[in-house]
Parts: sequence; C-alpha cells; structure tokens
Amino acid sequence: MSEICKNWTQWLKQNRFAGQTPEMIEQTTRWLEAVRDVILVYAEIMEHETVIDIGCGTGLLAFKALELQDCKGKVIFSDKFQDCLDDCQKILDEMEIKEGYEMLQSPIEHIALPESSVHKALMRSVLVHVVNKQPAINEIYRILKPGGKLCAFEPVIRSNTRYWQILHPAFIDRFDDFKKAENEIMENPLDSLCNFDENTLKMNLEIAGFSIPDVKLQEVKSSYVVQPNMVKEWFVNPPSPNQPSTKERFLKYFDEPTVNKFMQDVSNYLTGRKIDLKTNAVFINATK
Ligand SMILES: C[S@@+](CC[C@H](N)C(=O)[O-])C[C@H]1O[C@@H](n2cnc3c(N)ncnc32)[C@H](O)[C@@H]1O
Repeated sequence: MSEICKNWTQWLKQNRFAGQTPEMIEQTTRWLEAVRDVILVYAEIMEHETVIDIGCGTGLLAFKALELQDCKGKVIFSDKFQDCLDDCQKILDEMEIKEGYEMLQSPIEHIALPESSVHKALMRSVLVHVVNKQPAINEIYRILKPGGKLCAFEPVIRSNTRYWQILHPAFIDRFDDFKKAENEIMENPLDSLCNFDENTLKMNLEIAGFSIPDVKLQEVKSSYVVQPNMVKEWFVNPPSPNQPSTKERFLKYFDEPTVNKFMQDVSNYLTGRKIDLKTNAVFINATK
C-alpha cells in the first residue's frame, strides 16, 4: 500500500491536488465549492435542524451548514477517522465557535446515533470509499427522521475516460495488455472506487426505503495540456490513504520494469499534448 499518504487530512489538503498546476488547483477548489453549494441547496437546512456531515473530512459541507444555521441548530461533524475531526475542531477553536455542533467518530456502516434522530444527512465522496454500499445507505436511512433528507455527491469513476482511450497503440508497448488490465481494474466488483454507478446507487437507495430518490448523473468534459511530471503523479498518488495507487494496481498484472516502461511510454506520448477527458458524478436528493 502506498506510503505517500498517511491519513485523510493529508490526502484532502495535499494529495488530491498532486500534479495539478496552480490554475487547476484553483479550478478544483471552485468546483468543490460549487458541489458543496448544490448539496446545501438540496438540503434546505433550517436553523433548528440536526444536520450530519457523514465522512466530513476537513469539513467542506459541515462548516457551510453551521454558517447557514448561524450556530442555532446542531451540525454533527462525523467521520470514521479521528484526524479529520481533530482538524475540524482546530478550525472551530481558532474561530472561537463553541456551540451549534458536535463531533462524532463513527463509520458510516454503524453510525453511533439513534434511529430517526437527524433531519438532514449531507455527504460528499464517501460511498466511493466503502466497498458495500447497501449497509451504509441503510444506516443513513435509519438515522434520518421521517421526511428527513439525504443530499449527497459521489464520483462515478468507472464511467470516466480511461488511459487507453487517450493513448495511441503505436506509441505504447503492450497496449492491448494494458487496456485489458485497465478494464479489469475498473470493473472489479470488490473495488469500492468503481463497483457502482448511478443505477446501482438508485437501487441501493430504493432498497433502503427512500421513495423515488432523485439520482442525477452529471458528465463534465474538460481539456488541458499534460504538463511534465503530471503522468507520474497520476500513477503514484493513491486515490485515498488506504487504497493502492494506479501503479500498484497495474503491478498485480505486470512486473515492475514493465509497469515503469508503460508509465514512461504514457508520459512520453501525453506530455505536451492536449487531452479531452470525461468525468462522471451523481447528485443524490432522497427523502425518507
Ligand atoms: C474524499 S474524502 C471527502 C471528505 C469531505 N466529505 C469532502 O467533501 O471534502 C472521504 C472522507 O470519507 C471518510 N471515510 C472513509 N471511509 C469512511 C467510512 N467507512 N465511514 C465514515 N467515513 C469514512 C474519510 O475519512 C474522508 O474524510
């Protein structure tokens, strides 16, 4: 497993921007704020409500919910990992905010809250790190009050542009073998990152009991020129602290010299070239 990233706060602050130019970091930050704002519009948070940010990380959703409630309701910062809660608490202490929130260290699979205790559940990019989505979604349903809402965003990675789609076979040794391996990696049912899409999520929500959940697929197209070193970063940076990097995934199929040669071929072919990418995600708005 990758040693590059020790914990979630490090990943959220550094690794997720790895290989990006300052302009791209700025774009990613603006995009995160836009996603946050859509989730909060869906949630229609009222001042007195109890709101939970599940897998809050560094508090993208929870801090905005707290601001919207003007600290008059209750925002639960919840995460499986204590480093995330410590990071959020530090910011709250610095801002001298003492009320309107609680910290809850709890995995999504067993949220330490009573049944029907929460008005709104907010979540961004958490199910993508959970192998079995159904028990997690059942658990969110359990803690919501009748009429309560789950408002969330999840990337749908398996529908994104794959490496082989932006490469040319003539410039890549063993192109067909790497294409086959990549397709297998992206279709692995045991890999939380790519074992779901908008249809499976809708089904999970319905099975949990949400009536007519709204699951909107969003496809974003982007184009940019690949910069020196970008390809290496794509391969060696893990998608989360506890997941293998793309390089490590390919090492299950090929020996290290072969994977290194592939990375070099990809880098030689793409660096300086303009690429067009398709990135998919879903917005969820579901009522209990
Ligand atoms: C990609 S980050 C998203 C953080 C935050 N929601 C945001 O949008 O910036 C994924 C978060 O999910 C949390 N997480 C991962 N697995 C979890 C689990 N089983 N239960 C609860 N939280 C989990 C991680 O600690 C991390 O904070």
